[in-house]
Amino acid sequence: MNRLSSLLSPVNINQWKLRNRVVMAPLTRGFAMDQDGTVTEEMVAYYERRARYGVGLIITEGINPSLAGKGTFNIPGLYTAKQTNSWKRVTEAVHGHGATIIAQLWHVGRLAHSDLIGHPPLAPSAIQAEGRVHKLHKPYEMPTPMSTSDIHEVIASYRLAARNAMQAGFDGVEIHAAHGYLIDQFINERTNVRIDAYGGDVSGRLRFLREVVEAVKEEVHVDRISVRISEKKDDDPTYAWRDKAGMISSYLDLLRELNITVLHPSTEEFTEIWAKKQNLYQIIRRQWEGTIIGVGHLDADTAEAAIREGIVDLAAFGRPFIANPDLVQRWSESRPLVDYNPVEHLPLLL
Ligand SMILES: Cc1cc2nc3c(=O)[nH]c(=O)nc-3n(C[C@H](O)[C@H](O)[C@H](O)COP(=O)(O)O)c2cc1C
Repeated sequence: MNRLSSLLSPVNINQWKLRNRVVMAPLTRGFAMDQDGTVTEEMVAYYERRARYGVGLIITEGINPSLAGKGTFNIPGLYTAKQTNSWKRVTEAVHGHGATIIAQLWHVGRLAHSDLIGHPPLAPSAIQAEGRVHKLHKPYEMPTPMSTSDIHEVIASYRLAARNAMQAGFDGVEIHAAHGYLIDQFINERTNVRIDAYGGDVSGRLRFLREVVEAVKEEVHVDRISVRISEKKDDDPTYAWRDKAGMISSYLDLLRELNITVLHPSTEEFTEIWAKKQNLYQIIRRQWEGTIIGVGHLDADTAEAAIREGIVDLAAFGRPFIANPDLVQRWSESRPLVDYNPVEHLPLLL
């Protein structure tokens, strides 16, 4: 049997007919036009190249559903007609090479900055983040707690972005509910101290996610929606869930109730904890019948093993895809990979 026969075999996930189980993870690269959030020629070539060399499913870089969701420079959007049209070139190029592509919707909430969005950032509560805004190098600002009408407006922006994604030819969307951004800020008790219906207990804190999913479902068939969750923010260990098992079951109950079937739990240490057989994925797999996209320090062999053991259904790769546009072809031909080097690779859209 071929060493990577599970990873590299075709699979149908709902309406997506994937030629293999390899997913390109969402990767912010900062190459969109800054003034209007449109897609550039370089971005079209970047996505096309990954499709040409055989990736099954591409999850785009985070795309803002509104200007208020922008966390750094050169982030693409899906809230204007011009942005939507500019994405058509990407989806056509990717489909032309037989790959599937979904748009990741990303609102950074309190991690925006008035220099980027023209007003103080929006967040569930007035709790300032530590650290500095990416590339702007200024400290994060005190966010404005969102009123109910702000909340409704942001939810409407997710709905519009989802509609635009389908108009642009995407095969679906991924809702970015992870990594300490807006949806996660509502979910985490450290950033949400609201006393209204969007705060309080876990079900109150999950309400914003519930309403975002409901709004996106108005525009995109539920089988075409992935939700990305994480138990922590990558660079902040204090942001982890206090009650991991309880949070996971509340999350899964909610997503099941909403008929979501594709889950993308993000963890950086997948390989290490997978080996210890006690990880987020195993806890989730015990309670989740649907599709699970695994990600985080995977290589071809660990991904193959995780798929064969039934722990994940699809395997996503981030940094390896930046350094190796032809990742899938290299595996098929048993050629070595180029190691990811942020200094060398991040400034270039190869
Ligand atoms: C340069 C870079 C940009 C990223 N941008 C995003 C993003 O826009 N949305 C997201 O959900 N995750 C983002 N991530 C996280 C990746 O999707 C992925 O989870 C992480 O890189 C771990 O996978 P890997 O070990 O295969 O690289 C980013 C990671 C990197 C290295």
